[in-house]
Amino acid sequence: MSSSGMCSYIPNPVLVSISASEASDKDDTEDKIDAVFGVYRDEIGKPWVMPFVLELEKKLLQSDDFNHEYVTYLGLQSFNDLVPRLVFGEKSPHLQNGKAFGVQTVSGTSALRVGAELLARYYNYTTFYISDPTWDNHELTFLYAGFSTSRKYRYWDPVKRGVDFEGLIEDLREAPENSVIVLQLCAHNPTGCDLTKKQWTEVADVMQERKLFTFFDAAYQGLASGNLEEDAWAVRYFADRGFEMLIAQTFSKNMGLYGDRTGCLSVVLKEKSREETEVVKVKLEAITQALYLCPSKHGAEIVIRTLQDPQLTKQW
Ligand SMILES: Cc1ncc(COP(=O)(O)O)c(C=O)c1O
Repeated sequence: MSSSGMCSYIPNPVLVSISASEASDKDDTEDKIDAVFGVYRDEIGKPWVMPFVLELEKKLLQSDDFNHEYVTYLGLQSFNDLVPRLVFGEKSPHLQNGKAFGVQTVSGTSALRVGAELLARYYNYTTFYISDPTWDNHELTFLYAGFSTSRKYRYWDPVKRGVDFEGLIEDLREAPENSVIVLQLCAHNPTGCDLTKKQWTEVADVMQERKLFTFFDAAYQGLASGNLEEDAWAVRYFADRGFEMLIAQTFSKNMGLYGDRTGCLSVVLKEKSREETEVVKVKLEAITQALYLCPSKHGAEIVIRTLQDPQLTKQW
C-alpha cells in the first residue's frame, strides 16, 4: 500500500505484549510471574473481581432497567456528571461554570485516542511528547490519531534510579510551541516514579512559558498514594492556574474493569462560551461516531452506581 500521507513508522508493541502473555499462560513453570499486564490476580493467579463490583453486577442483572441498549456517542450523562469530579474535585468551580466537562469513552486508551484526534484533526496539533520510557501504547495511539511527530522527554535516570527532573525540564524548554505533552498523573508506568508537588509547579511554569498543551493520562488515580484526592493534585493545580487541557481517565486499574472498557475524557477549556463548548462536544461526537459509535454500557453502570452511593464509594 502506498505510504503517501500516512505514518511510515508503525510500532506494534501491543501485539508483542499479547503474545508474551499467551506464552506465559502456556508455560507451566510453577513459580512463574506474568508481569506483562498490570492486572489484579488472586493468590493462585486467577483474575480477581472486587467483591462490591460482583454484588453490584448481581443487583444490576435483577433490576427492571437492566438492558443492553446503545448509549449516545458521548456515553451516559450521569457517568459524565460524576466521573470528572474524581479528578477536578467534588466542588470544582471549573465543572460548575461549565469550563470543564467529561465524556465517556472506551476506557483510557480511547480517551487518549479521542482526545488526540480532537487536537490533530480540528486544532492542527502535529507534535506530541511522551516520557522516556512510557506505557508502550502511547506512541501508537497518538500516531494513529493523526499526529505526525513523536518525541520523548527524559524521565528516568538509571544512575539516580529516579526521575531525571533536570532532563525533563530541559526537554520541555526546548519543545516547539504547541507541542502536546503527555504527562502521567501518578503511578508512572513503567517507572513507578512520580513528580513531587514542587516539581509539578515547575513543569506548569515551563508549559505556560513555552505554550505547550497539557494532556494528562490518569490511568492509576488512587493507586499511587491510596487516596483519590491526593493523586489528582496536579490536575487540580493545572486547572486552577487556568490551563486548557485534556485528561484521560480509566476504571481499568482502580476498579479492575479492564475488559469492560470504561473510561472518560475530561476536557478543560479556557475562556470559551457555552456555545463554543457545545461545538467541541459536536467534534467529539463526530470522532467517536466514526471510531466506535458509542462507548459500552456495563462498566459505566457499575461506576455510576458506585459513585452515587457514598457507602460503595468508600468500599471502593
Ligand atoms: C499509562 C497508561 N495509560 C493508559 C492505559 C490504558 O488502559 P485502558 O485502556 O485499559 O484504560 C494504561 C494501561 O495499562 C496505562 O498503563
